Amino acid sequence: MPTDLDESQDTMMVPSQENHRAFRNALGQFGTGVTVITAHDNHSPIGMTVNSFASVSLDPALVLWSIANKSERRDAFYNAGFFAVHVLAEDQADLALNFAKNPTAFEDCEWHFGKHHLPILPEAIARFECSIQTTYDGGDHTIIIGKVEQFTQNEGKPLMFAGGHFGKFSQ
Ligand SMILES: Cc1cc2nc3c(=O)[nH]c(=O)nc-3n(C[C@H](O)[C@H](O)[C@H](O)COP(=O)(O)O)c2cc1C
Repeated sequence: MPTDLDESQDTMMVPSQENHRAFRNALGQFGTGVTVITAHDNHSPIGMTVNSFASVSLDPALVLWSIANKSERRDAFYNAGFFAVHVLAEDQADLALNFAKNPTAFEDCEWHFGKHHLPILPEAIARFECSIQTTYDGGDHTIIIGKVEQFTQNEGKPLMFAGGHFGKFSQ
């Protein structure tokens, strides 16, 4: 039976400067996988830990992610033309932390250039190599839609992220 809205125990909030933290916490209740997205910027590799990745369309094969406009790497990703999404395995939390904090994270891990000069990280449980199809203004983020040119899929369980913490998926 549906209950009256008035009987709800939830505290309803309208997003504002005052409840910014509560809004972030509410969003953090949505558990996600974790990816590292790479591209090349004038022949140098760039990478970023990203959990806004999502599938969009099967046919054509499209995916999306969003990047903060204030990110130092925003323009480089925006102009790169191509990007590679690496879906991380449960034992790759260190890699995720490194690419979240450290612009020189490539110095600390194995990688090689693949097609379209895309920096490829081994051991991801899936990889999607994409051309940028279109971008959208998404408030303080830019939404990037990619056409999947080629992909891989490997065995392994995904690294998860919820409530600001990395974790494992249990079945
Ligand atoms: C689990 C996780 C997910 C993240 N997802 C995103 C994302 O989807 N988009 C984004 O712009 N930044 C995301 N970040 C932040 C970036 O990885 C990185 O910390 C930030 O861009 C650093 O700022 P800079 O690019 O100016 O150096 C995420 C960080 C973590 C730890």
